[in-house]
Amino acid sequence: MDPFQDRVAVITGGAGGIGMAMARAFAGRGARLVLADIDEERLSQAAKALSEEGAEVAGVRTDVTDPSSVDALADATYERFGAAHLVCNNAGIAVLGPMVNATLADWRITMDINFWGVVHGCQSFVPRMIEGGERGHVVNTASMAGLTGMQWLGVYCASKFAVVGLTESLFRELREHGIGVSVLCPMIVETNLGEHTQQILKKSKERTAAVAPPQGQMKGGVIQPPEVAERVVRAIERGQLYILTHEEQREILRRRAAKQDEVFEPDHWAL
Ligand SMILES: NC(=O)c1ccc[n+]([C@@H]2O[C@H](COP(=O)([O-])OP(=O)(O)OC[C@H]3O[C@@H](n4cnc5c(N)ncnc54)[C@H](O)[C@@H]3O)[C@@H](O)[C@H]2O)c1
Repeated sequence: MDPFQDRVAVITGGAGGIGMAMARAFAGRGARLVLADIDEERLSQAAKALSEEGAEVAGVRTDVTDPSSVDALADATYERFGAAHLVCNNAGIAVLGPMVNATLADWRITMDINFWGVVHGCQSFVPRMIEGGERGHVVNTASMAGLTGMQWLGVYCASKFAVVGLTESLFRELREHGIGVSVLCPMIVETNLGEHTQQILKKSKERTAAVAPPQGQMKGGVIQPPEVAERVVRAIERGQLYILTHEEQREILRRRAAKQDEVFEPDHWAL
């Protein structure tokens, strides 16, 4: 069965960037859409744009940090379309800066959105997907920062490592139910993530030590959201757990694995 044609896709953080690109790619393959985001204005603009492109789309204002709001998103999805087949827990922010300077608010807000947002999405949708008995797929957005520690991204890395861990477990647990699971781990993608993060931190009125990304210091090439979305589509078709987006990730991941492997070399291992 085609994983997209006439299927229902729910995307949090769907008002722009990677989320909207995934929505557009799924709609291009025949999926119906539920876009969720905390930013009501950008959400309705995104829903309008996709509907003008021919997609059947519902926009549901959602705060992923609030379990009742994500439950309401699931209710709205089932009321409108009767099912959810593709669930993308994608909403996120990126707090940058030396980890020792991070305030507790930086940690809490990051974990609330990036980690708890994914947990809430899984809690609200997965049991209903299992009960529905149809094939489906969950895509959780982590980051390359969820696969290797990075300078200035400690808070973000912690939240994204948590997403990778829970997604690897979910992959194993949902296999028997015919539900695929993937974790999306991009390097740099050209979106307004930095600006949106600043807006969210400002609104919270709590003390933050987040700084703007240092010019020219972020490693790796910059790609566009549609390229990420294409990789997501392909991973769903193939039932692939990891979605990586940049060729340079290969070498970084090899170096990390080699460092762990080295520990078992006889001269390191002997006590
Ligand atoms: N852009 C990159 O370089 C990059 C790299 C790796 C991972 N990511 C991840 O990709 C995901 C999408 O980010 P993006 O780059 O498209 O940026 P983006 O800012 O365009 O998208 C994130 C969306 O999440 C929404 N959001 C934030 N808090 C929310 C909440 N409490 N409830 C509901 N929605 C909320 C924002 O309003 C925004 O529309 C994030 O999880 C981000 O961490 C991005």
